[in-house]
Amino acid sequence: MKISFAEFAVPHSGALVVTAWEGRGLTATARRLDEETGGAVGRAVASSPRFHGKKNEMIAIIGPPKLPLSRIIVAGLGKPDAVDPGVLQDLGGTLVAHLNSAGESEAAVALDLGDGAPLKPEDAAAHLAFGAELRSYRFDKYRTTQKPEQKPSLAGITVSTEAASAAKAAYHVLGATAQAVFFTRDLVSEPANTLYPETLAKEAAGLAEFGLSVEILDEERMRELGMGALLGVGQGSARPSRVVVIEHRGGKPGSPPLGFIGKGVTFDTGGISIKPAAGMGEMKWDMAGAGVVIGLMRLLATRQARVNAVGIVGLTENMPSGTAQRPGDIVRSLSGQTIEVLNTDAEGRLVLADVLWYCQDRFKPKLMIDLATLTGAVVVALGHDNAGLFSNNDQLADRLIAAGKEVGEHLWRLPLADSYDRAIDSDAADVKNIAGDRAAGSIIGAQFLKRFVNNVPWAHLDIAGVAWSKKDTATVPKGATAFGVRLLDRFVAAHYEKG
Ligand code: BES
Ligand code: MN
Ligand code: ZN
Repeated sequence: MKISFAEFAVPHSGALVVTAWEGRGLTATARRLDEETGGAVGRAVASSPRFHGKKNEMIAIIGPPKLPLSRIIVAGLGKPDAVDPGVLQDLGGTLVAHLNSAGESEAAVALDLGDGAPLKPEDAAAHLAFGAELRSYRFDKYRTTQKPEQKPSLAGITVSTEAASAAKAAYHVLGATAQAVFFTRDLVSEPANTLYPETLAKEAAGLAEFGLSVEILDEERMRELGMGALLGVGQGSARPSRVVVIEHRGGKPGSPPLGFIGKGVTFDTGGISIKPAAGMGEMKWDMAGAGVVIGLMRLLATRQARVNAVGIVGLTENMPSGTAQRPGDIVRSLSGQTIEVLNTDAEGRLVLADVLWYCQDRFKPKLMIDLATLTGAVVVALGHDNAGLFSNNDQLADRLIAAGKEVGEHLWRLPLADSYDRAIDSDAADVKNIAGDRAAGSIIGAQFLKRFVNNVPWAHLDIAGVAWSKKDTATVPKGATAFGVRLLDRFVAAHYEKG
């Protein structure tokens, strides 16, 4: 979608959006428009008893008198002291959905918050545009027979503000953020017949264009290193596994990087411990953790983040076949610890075991954060509104929770404890990949990972409930969410780029 910023002027066609505060007080531009339309705006508000000016509330005046506009929309802003970037992003996203369902092709949004507002006019305008852009995402490359009414009508929006050129500058990084989010959403949406370890690795390699260095480990190299846990997961697939290492060097040379690790199971059938047929198609997005890490690295590069960071993704496909690993198999992980694989569907932890160990061993990172669609149990516990957070470090956990709040990607911390860890002691090997029962499934998964982080400050984000959405929200259309890209970018910017 085309995003532009301009000084305020009544457009000659299309939709014009003006705003009202909670309590139905019109902003100055809305009042001016009320005069120019012979009071149509005020009458519309007066005739809409359910409109209070709360955030995301809207009324439309279709074919307003005296002006060549297709419609005027009065949009609620909520209470002045509660207006923040998130409120404006949600408003931008909600407007895009509304304008598309109305069939509008062009819209101008007059954003005049006045002096009382708690953020600068240019930031307000940029965040509204950001939300609009985020909501405009579509994955429609395979839809060849869409009728015109199935396609979005809205080609662009113009945000009118008293600070147009400053808004354009403020939008620069937000626009790059949206592009990184879209890149991740594209990867996560892509089906497993086209996106598999080699092709996903190739997508990551394309990031060299932005100045990242990208290294691909093939199976021969992984075998040499001793990544038996990851290789075991992939051994049933016709598609060879890959590990991709992506480095961003924007900080002091030699200063230890932040490590971001992603689960990249490009399709998870469960393997020999096969999943039921219903809903199995969802397992094309079992590489969402990897997709988020790749999108994050792209963003750190494009906004030239002043930090050293390494993103490592373990890419494999979990298939049942004559060469697949069997329940009961014992594999040797890169760490040297042996793993009894009692359920081949608990494969994400096997992939991460080798990638986490590799990351700390090779890069001596300041900290490691992994993202994984690891357990169905986290969906039972937290649903779709919070990702599960596990950490061996309170400061790290607190920083992640705070960053999540700021961008609307919420984390809820769950415990780790030795008492849980005992459940994965194996009689036959050093550790087993499942406990005996269904109790605390997400914690068990995290405890397993913890055995492979070698005491480095570490956090695990179980994103199984938030990586994909079945319903639209203000800034995230249904489908791949890219949950984590914005959160981790904020986390990096807030704490690791100073000095
Ligand atoms: N990829 C799944 C977890 C998952 C489930 C992600 C639903 C998204 C939506 C993971 O590999 C898995 O199969 N986990 C098992 C673990 C169990 C065998 C201990 C699970 O959650 O059932
Ligand atoms: Mn699985
Ligand atoms: Zn999985």
